[in-house]
Amino acid sequence: MALAASLSLSFSSSLLASPLPQPAISKPHHNLSTFRAFRCAFAPPPPTNTPSTLPPPPKKKHWKQGEFPGISDSSLTRRPPLKNIKKRLDRKDGAAAWVNTVTEALADRIHKKHWLEALQVFEMLREQPYYQPKEGTYMKLLVLLGRSGQPQQARHLFDLMLEEGLEPTSELYTALLAAYCRSDLVDEAFAILNQMKALPRCQPDVYTYSTLIKVCVDACRFELVESLYDEMKQRDITPNTVTQNIVLSGYGKAGKFDMMERVLSEMLESTACKPDVWTMNTILSLVGYKGHIDMMEKWYEKFRNFGVEPETRTFNILIGAYGKQRLYDKMSSVMEYMRKLAFPWTTATYNNVIEAFADVGDAKNMEYTFDQMRAEGMKADTKTFCCLIRGYANAGLFHKVVGSVQLAGKLEIPENTSFYNEVIAACAKADDLLEMERVYKRMKDKLIRTDSTTFSTMVEAYRKVGMTDKIFDLEQEQKIMVADDSNDE
Ligand SMILES: *[C@@H]1O[C@H](CO)[C@@H](O)[C@H](O)[C@H]1NC(C)=O
Ligand SMILES: *[C@@H]1O[C@H](CO)[C@@H](O)[C@H](O)[C@H]1NC(C)=O
Repeated sequence: MALAASLSLSFSSSLLASPLPQPAISKPHHNLSTFRAFRCAFAPPPPTNTPSTLPPPPKKKHWKQGEFPGISDSSLTRRPPLKNIKKRLDRKDGAAAWVNTVTEALADRIHKKHWLEALQVFEMLREQPYYQPKEGTYMKLLVLLGRSGQPQQARHLFDLMLEEGLEPTSELYTALLAAYCRSDLVDEAFAILNQMKALPRCQPDVYTYSTLIKVCVDACRFELVESLYDEMKQRDITPNTVTQNIVLSGYGKAGKFDMMERVLSEMLESTACKPDVWTMNTILSLVGYKGHIDMMEKWYEKFRNFGVEPETRTFNILIGAYGKQRLYDKMSSVMEYMRKLAFPWTTATYNNVIEAFADVGDAKNMEYTFDQMRAEGMKADTKTFCCLIRGYANAGLFHKVVGSVQLAGKLEIPENTSFYNEVIAACAKADDLLEMERVYKRMKDKLIRTDSTTFSTMVEAYRKVGMTDKIFDLEQEQKIMVADDSNDE
């Protein structure tokens, strides 16, 4: 890819021109016992679980000229236009056949999640002489419109349904409410709730409340969450595990741990909303992320004793937490344990291990893990390459940074902000500010969003060499971008 090419030319040639400074981070000397334990974890998996010869990864399709997804939506042009349905209708005789064809077409559009066409076909269906309004059809359309971020269309459809004389139900109202929630329209969603409360046959249920609670949690409106809970209690509606997990994770993400624990203890004591693996993963990742390893292990035991079965993601969370604390022995044991229980190592598993070594600049183990990942046919992703770039930069192996960027290009790894930030940080670490600026320019040319990390990395690099004018320019540029962003919204 172009970025790789420019890096390999200028990045490496400028490296040749001026000798590199010693790496800022001293390489940790891994002690032999952990190293050995770690390699043991890579013992081949049991043959029953992973076949020794993996099928080759599917070949990536290359777009023909003018067919590039960004330019012409080929999926749109390839679908038969609506006209064809009309033609087919004209050829068939008999009302039943008519209805069948249109009904099939509608089901197809809903299945393919093309909301606009689904509405158009539905309109045709309604024009048929034998059309009968059906609750199921409305329900499917409402859900589709909600998921497609079209609450106004959903409202319109709902009104149409009432006009056609269908009795609304609590499920239909909840689907409409969910459409507003999907688009973060909290007030509108509450308005629907109030409408429901006024209709004896459309009383809100646990799904209605869970949907509303989720949107409040996502918006950090915890005071609304509490009032919804109170309302549920008054109405004798018991929150289920899904409700509680939503709230638990919301409190955790917002750092309200006392509230989180309160919800959790309610769950542990309840019969209606027992903790599940989702609850376990939420707690473990929050505690593990904070580096509280003892607490994480205690919680793991507690959930296991409670009868919650771990899943691959659970182990990946443990591996990530151990890796961050450089507890490589424990990290390896979890990996071995996964092998024993025939839980496949996933891209996330490898990424966590690669990240652990990358953070301490342990290029040797990082590389070993990456090679193992590829040997097992596990697909590397953007995060893998972010870690590789950071790891090599931490180890001061800048030619390998270039190599990784090239490989990412070759493997067509999607390049996002994080990816560019790592490359920029690597250039800064190598004291190659010219290359850093070239990468920054490339990032903007490719319309990849710059973020606060991009700026702080570059500002720090300029500060180190006293280039205050560059800092000033950058700050001006950032101000303009922030202004543009708020205009967009
Ligand atoms: C090796 O690392 C482990 C922790 O991973 C530590 O407990 C042990 O003391 C270390 N051994 C040496 C010789 O540094
Ligand atoms: C870039 O992609 C990786 C992997 O998919 C993801 O973890 C990361 O959050 C993304 N970064 C941004 C800024 O979206």
